[in-house]
Amino acid sequence: MQICRSVADCRAAIAALRAKGKTIGMVPTMGFLHDGHMSLVETAQTHTDAVAVSIFVNPSQFGETADLDAYPRDENRDLEMLENAGVAVVFIPEVETMYPSGDETIVETTRMANMLHGLVRPGHFRGVTTVVARLFNIVQPDVAVFGEKDYQQLQVIKRMVADLHMPLTIIGAPTVREADGLAMSSRNVRLTPEDRTAALILSQSLTAAEATATGATVADLHKVIADTVATEPRATLKGLDIVEAETLNTIDGPLHGPTAIMISVAFGDILLIDQRVVTP
Ligand code: PAJ
Repeated sequence: MQICRSVADCRAAIAALRAKGKTIGMVPTMGFLHDGHMSLVETAQTHTDAVAVSIFVNPSQFGETADLDAYPRDENRDLEMLENAGVAVVFIPEVETMYPSGDETIVETTRMANMLHGLVRPGHFRGVTTVVARLFNIVQPDVAVFGEKDYQQLQVIKRMVADLHMPLTIIGAPTVREADGLAMSSRNVRLTPEDRTAALILSQSLTAAEATATGATVADLHKVIADTVATEPRATLKGLDIVEAETLNTIDGPLHGPTAIMISVAFGDILLIDQRVVTP
């Protein structure tokens, strides 16, 4: 496994693989890897000959520096996991490498970035698309894999790739969960034991909504989720969006096709998200 910290080293490692005729898959991450990330690596490996993983805690997608500073990191453990998984290239740039001083170019999906989660976290998706566009330009993969857990992010990236005619395929991979149903997240380690137990309310509320989806209106699903989350005193429902699965457009009245339910729930200052696509 080649560990690259500069753009030149990363390009050279990829070029060597290309010279052997290998196709390249990519999984962008912010590190502190868990089985969710590793499932994306496996998916990328089933579609391509060699997989590159990037580890970069991207400052431009964090609103508050406190959240950025608190983001967990463990590079040695990450590298061991990636080595064991048979990853070909790891790209670990410094902030200065991704954002050289004097840079001024941003990439933004103007509609999708500024709705739903984007309203709660202004600038977040612009930070994501800007860094992912730069990473794609450095690695130039044939395929890149993103988790459905960050559902709006996946749709935003697909939109960017289509709009900018980027020559790669984006694949969405299903959410990997703990045995009790909690979606795996690097943030989960920051939960107190009590909040860790209470966090089950996310997947439970989605299951309750899914069970009532047939013939339901958006308002019906809103109520089921709000009522379910309200049964857990430690949890505060921060965001709930029920939208058309692909366009993220709002739905008036009854569901009429694949529908994405996206929720964010706070436990103290820790915000957890989960999502489910339901069909009425
Ligand atoms: P990060 O939160 O590290 O997630 C990296 C990738 O792993 C994303 O595509 C995310 O959707 C996926 N992922 C996270 N938890 C998952 C789970 N439980 N099951 C399946 N996939 C999961 O998302 C980011 O980093 C950043 O925004 C990034 C795209 C790297 C840009 O900075």
